[in-house]
This record gives sequence, structure tokens and C-alpha cells, in this order.
Amino acid sequence: MRSLSGIQPSGAVHIGNYFGAVRQYVELQEKHEGFYFIANYHALTSIRDPETLREYTLNLAMDLLALGIDPDRATLFMQSDIPEVTELTWLLSSVTPMGLLERCVAYKEKVAEGIPADHGLFAYPVLQAADILIYDSDLVPVGQDQKQHVEVTRDIATKFNNTFGEVFKLPEAYILSTVAVVTGTDGRKMSKSYGNTILIFQEPDQLKRQVMGVKTDSRPIDEPKDPESCNVYSLYALVASDEDSETVAERYRAGDIGYGEAKALLLEAVTEYFAPHRERRAELEADPDYVRDVLNTGAEHARAEARKTLDRARAASGF
Ligand code: ADP
Ligand code: TRP
Repeated sequence: MRSLSGIQPSGAVHIGNYFGAVRQYVELQEKHEGFYFIANYHALTSIRDPETLREYTLNLAMDLLALGIDPDRATLFMQSDIPEVTELTWLLSSVTPMGLLERCVAYKEKVAEGIPADHGLFAYPVLQAADILIYDSDLVPVGQDQKQHVEVTRDIATKFNNTFGEVFKLPEAYILSTVAVVTGTDGRKMSKSYGNTILIFQEPDQLKRQVMGVKTDSRPIDEPKDPESCNVYSLYALVASDEDSETVAERYRAGDIGYGEAKALLLEAVTEYFAPHRERRAELEADPDYVRDVLNTGAEHARAEARKTLDRARAASGF
């Protein structure tokens, strides 16, 4: 079995990325063959400053390694090191109905936000389908927001297979229901584009500011509260032990905890949870050559796999 996923280098990683996706990358690399990459071609839909793109790409590689991607178990690489993926994108594009892409919610939302509708943004799911299909992936660990893109990938693969013969395996999204949508500091889905994130790797005072900024209602300490409907508690439950989460949930129900204290507990638990990752991140930052080596080795391996699938698709379609 193969697990594959990609993440755009469009900004610093937040706890929604970690619990919704990256933690599953790490879990799946234990049992399966993991292929994980930095989707820097996709990031071109939003980042147009070359230096920023380079910097974010290397930073994200460090983030992923610090969060537990193990180069001895999984293949970590940059999307742009695999030119085969863009060639496959064209073959897939040729059989992709416009309507399939027009229905994509991620695209529609971006356009509704006023982001210019470039062709790259529209065709984004076709490049993503090539990313997934070119490695014969079985499982694609992602958050709920990417479910539709994996379904589109299956549709495109089916269309290609029906047209040219069985070339592609049909992948499945791997989404854990409890963390499918991690809420941000304002109660909406945590996302870089909403400015409601809690970043994993940042200075303690900034982390404190983000945690203290989590929105709550203004009910007093002694009023019993439902922990499940509180943003502070839902974040706390991700980073605290089961026992501590249960204790705090009881105190919510008993009217024995105020939001100030709950936020202080959340800050402490987030800090503690990611302490080993932050330590590892600092070591990696001091050794960028090691990180580049990992990416180069990963690219070599990924490229050999990609070549085989591309050759199959080319032969099947008349090249
Ligand atoms: P963002 O929305 O912040 O730009 P990305 O699009 O870079 O995040 O997402 C990278 C991965 O993290 C994807 O698999 C995505 O589904 C997952 N993810 C992002 N935000 C969340 C969230 N709030 N809850 C669960 N998973 C998420
Ligand atoms: N579209 C994904 C996101 O925004 C990133 C991505 C690109 C991806 N290619 C992929 C995810 C392939 C899974 C598989 O998060």
C-alpha cells in the first residue's frame, strides 16, 4: 500500500495542517510506503515572489521533517523535481470535462473571494490528480477540504482508463472524522487564508497572542458550559492527554472554569505538545544542506516511480 500527500508551501504550518493531515502522514509511513511532497507548482497560484517561494519551500521541508516525516521510511520531495508530473497533467487534461472542474468548491470559493481566476487555479485539480496517480497511490491523507479533489482524481482516472485501458489505480482519501475540520481561533475552519491560525513554529509571545485571541462568548466562570461547543476546549482536546481533557470537560460542565484559565491551559498544552518538534526544527534549521540532501534523494526515488506510470500512460494514449 502506498500513502501519498502534498502540501503547498504557501505559509507556515498551523495546527489544523498537523492534526488534519501531517499527523496522518507520519502514522501511515509506519505501515505503508509513504510519498510526501511540497506542492510548489500549486503554490504558484498564490505566490508570485520567487525568493518567497524558495524560502517557504525549504521551510516547509524542515517543518515536515521536524513533525515526524522520517526519510528512512518515507520519500520526501519537491513537486517541481518531478517534471513527469506536468507531462501527465496534459494527458489527464485532455480527458477532463470542464464541468468537473467548474464544480470544484475550492476554485469557486477563491473566485468568490475576488482572487483572479487564472487558468492555473482552474486546472489546479488536474495537476493534483497527476500528483496522486503518477505514484500509484492507494491512500491520500488530507483534511475534509481536499475530499472533493480526491474524488475528482478518481473521476479523471476512471475517464482515462475507460478511454485508453487500465492505466491508473483509483486512490482513496484518508480522512479522520475527529480532525477532518480543525477549527481556528474564530470558530471557522482553521486556514491560512482566514488569518485564524495557531502556528506551530513561532516565538512564544506570538503563540501566546494567538491562543489568547481565541474567540469565546462572555459567560461568567460559574455558569455551566458545554465543552464541545467551545473553541478553546476543542483545541485543548487535540493537544492535551485524554485524562486532562476529561478533567477540563468536567470543570466546564460544573461551571468551575473561566475562559481565561482555559486559554492558559491551552497555551501550556500546545507548548508542551510541540516542544520536541520545535527542538528538532531548530537542529534542522542549522543544517539546511541535510534538508536539501533529503529532498534530492527523495526526488530521485519518486522520479523513477513517476517515470514508470507516465510511460504506461503515454503508451496507452498513442505516444
Ligand atoms: P490552508 O487552508 O491553511 O491553506 P492547506 O491548503 O495548505 O491549508 O492544507 C494542507 C493540508 O492540511 C491539506 O491536507 C488540508 O486538507 C489540511 N488542512 C488544512 N486546514 C485544515 C483544518 N482546519 N482542518 C483539517 N485539515 C486541514
Ligand atoms: N491541494 C492540496 C492542498 O491545498 C495540496 C496538494 C497538491 C495535494 N497535490 C496533492 C494533496 C496531492 C494531496 C495529494 O492542501
